[in-house]
Amino acid sequence: MLRIIFRSEVTSLLSYTDIQKICLASARNNRKFNVTGYMVECGGVFVECLEGPPENVKSTMKVIESDRRHHNIATLLHHRTSHRRAFGVWSMNVMFLDDQLLWQRAIGSVHAYDRFLEYSRDPAFSIGVLARAYRHACAVLRVDPAAPTASRGKIPRLKQMLRD
Ligand SMILES: Cc1cc2nc3c(=O)[nH]c(=O)nc-3n(C[C@H](O)[C@H](O)[C@H](O)COP(=O)(O)O)c2cc1C
Repeated sequence: MLRIIFRSEVTSLLSYTDIQKICLASARNNRKFNVTGYMVECGGVFVECLEGPPENVKSTMKVIESDRRHHNIATLLHHRTSHRRAFGVWSMNVMFLDDQLLWQRAIGSVHAYDRFLEYSRDPAFSIGVLARAYRHACAVLRVDPAAPTASRGKIPRLKQMLRD
């Protein structure tokens, strides 16, 4: 299995609805390729994880890289592993961390909240935020974060794309 985590920035303003649509299209596409993952958005910065068969993750990444709605795409992690998926529940889902209260509940200290644009360039910081957001979403939505490796990721409902 290949796991890629990347960070990118919106090219121009995207509404929550725009991002929800991107997430839904992503979830549908990823499911076909047995790819799972999760993303967070905060202040126009995305951090996203993709996991699955290496060739499928790489081809998905190519499609994402040619999407002009975001730019400054930087790979934070590129890791082949035989371990189970760490973000295996959904084929894609998103958490909007723009709400400070949600940030506090999901991530903890709000110290870095205002400086996500800058801090998220640090891979360890971003991966930590993504992992906490995923765990928080699983807890709130009452799903087991350790999804069975054999099953394909779920397509999220709109109300499962947490924003407050
Ligand atoms: C931040 C961001 C993350 C994305 N993640 C994915 C993804 O995980 N999978 C995917 O297929 N498309 C993803 N996309 C969308 C693709 O770039 C592309 O628009 C989409 O796959 C086209 O799908 P369609 O041909 O079904 O319309 C993402 C786009 C952005 C801006």
